[in-house]
Amino acid sequence: MLKALRPSLRALLIHLVAVTLVFGYRVYLADQQQPPGLLALAVSEGVIAASLGLLTGLRAWWLAINLLFFPLLALAASYAINPLWYLVVFVVIWLLNWNAFGEQVPLYLSGNKTIEVLARQLDADKPFAFADFGCGWASVLVKLAKQFPHAHFVGYETAPLSYLVAKVRSAGINNLDIKRQSFWQTPWKQHDVIYCFLSPAPMSDIEARAENDFKPGATLISNSFSLPNKVPHRIVNVGDLRKTQLFIYRY
Ligand SMILES: C[S@@+](CC[C@H](N)C(=O)[O-])C[C@H]1O[C@@H](n2cnc3c(N)ncnc32)[C@H](O)[C@@H]1O
Repeated sequence: MLKALRPSLRALLIHLVAVTLVFGYRVYLADQQQPPGLLALAVSEGVIAASLGLLTGLRAWWLAINLLFFPLLALAASYAINPLWYLVVFVVIWLLNWNAFGEQVPLYLSGNKTIEVLARQLDADKPFAFADFGCGWASVLVKLAKQFPHAHFVGYETAPLSYLVAKVRSAGINNLDIKRQSFWQTPWKQHDVIYCFLSPAPMSDIEARAENDFKPGATLISNSFSLPNKVPHRIVNVGDLRKTQLFIYRY
């Protein structure tokens, strides 16, 4: 039943269970002379939360968050940090990871090697229209737009701070547009090449819509996450430390 819940909700429930267990244990030991300190309790909470995350099928990055969240809070609490900083850090993370809860797509960026290999898949001679669905900080687009001046590039990004970073980085690059718009709410027929680096969550919806909504002859290049059913035309191994794979689909 837990596995049917969204990862964010699952992680929250797991923390409630882990905090209750650790807090209960602390109350049980209350009259001991040397009860465990805050950091020890936080580390125990982290280990329990990460183990429960593993059992309930959370992905690796959630496990890392589960493991480290309370220990880092406990460590931070041991320094005299102005509480306003917590709020600032929270707001920045939220404005960057706006889509982590609803769309289940957090922010992580394509590496330089991936962008190089991606560039090799593009047509060096003919004009084409390229879109990055969820462009983050436009790291991919800025490089490609400079390398392919005969092509046009567009990035869709809804996380406010990432959008702002992408917009600033795109200034002065004439063949690059950054739009604060969900890629779900755009016509998909106008692009020849669509790049995405999202998460497993939206891939089946992309697959369902792409069949009718991509231009005939369009290419979808998905970093790391394959479509659940369609067989890729090609899989390219980037050869980086992350062992990135690009799944290339033709329509
Ligand atoms: C993993 S990051 C990839 C960033 C960039 N494409 C890259 O490869 O460096 C995914 C981005 O997609 C954005 N995103 C998720 N769903 C979106 C949507 N429906 N419309 C626009 N952006 C979206 C997220 O905010 C996040 O910045």
